[in-house]
Amino acid sequence: MDGVPVICIDGPSGAGKGTLAVRLARQLGWHLLDSGALYRLVGKACLDAGVAWDEEAAVAVVARSLEAEFDVVGDEVVVKLGGVDVTADIRSELGSKGASSVAVLPRVRAALLERQREWARPPGLVADGRDMGTQVFPDSPLKIFLTASVEARAERRYSQLLAKGESVSLPRLLEGIRERDARDSTRSASPLVAAKDAVLVDSTSLTIDEVLERVTALAADRGILGRVSG
Ligand code: DC
Repeated sequence: MDGVPVICIDGPSGAGKGTLAVRLARQLGWHLLDSGALYRLVGKACLDAGVAWDEEAAVAVVARSLEAEFDVVGDEVVVKLGGVDVTADIRSELGSKGASSVAVLPRVRAALLERQREWARPPGLVADGRDMGTQVFPDSPLKIFLTASVEARAERRYSQLLAKGESVSLPRLLEGIRERDARDSTRSASPLVAAKDAVLVDSTSLTIDEVLERVTALAADRGILGRVSG
């Protein structure tokens, strides 16, 4: 993986990381790592296997044996577990809760660390997720910390869920996002913090195209896009 450029995109849920990562990877022709989906899959696989989300040793075993597959279709990442499409399942509110619960367990994070690094293959990788720039790819030449106000993030999530036909209440979503932010930023294992060398991008009043433009310009400025790799 040495020499393979990695662009990391971290930040809180709902800031638009996922869409930015997919669009950027497609535009550059690079690989994509959706690390949140890995944590979501661990939560789901535990539910399927009857393993409680707080049984650290058992959850770590599930994480190590995960048969995960990702395909990018349009702006979405289609996620398979043991060959079965579980995308809708893992993106549900229950899926978010499971992911956030297992993500606090250090042995689970350790189990996923090497697996995530294997995604760095030529010509390059866009890595989406909380600790991409701080823990998984600390040498990445471009780390973006994408944020947006809690209200903007709740509204985006609300529209997404409505579009998928899930009935949700905006105040409950807002509350859920606040709680998850608190849990994710105060946990001791890989808390949600921007890497010291990350570039902060606030997407509250930007469209996805504007965010994409800004990030591509940053990558070009740093000479990452023309870099020969592999
Ligand atoms: O980005 P997301 O909403 O799909 O992430 C789901 C959960 O997993 C969220 O609670 C944060 C956690 N997560 C993490 O701890 N580390 C990552 N690299 C990615 C996600």
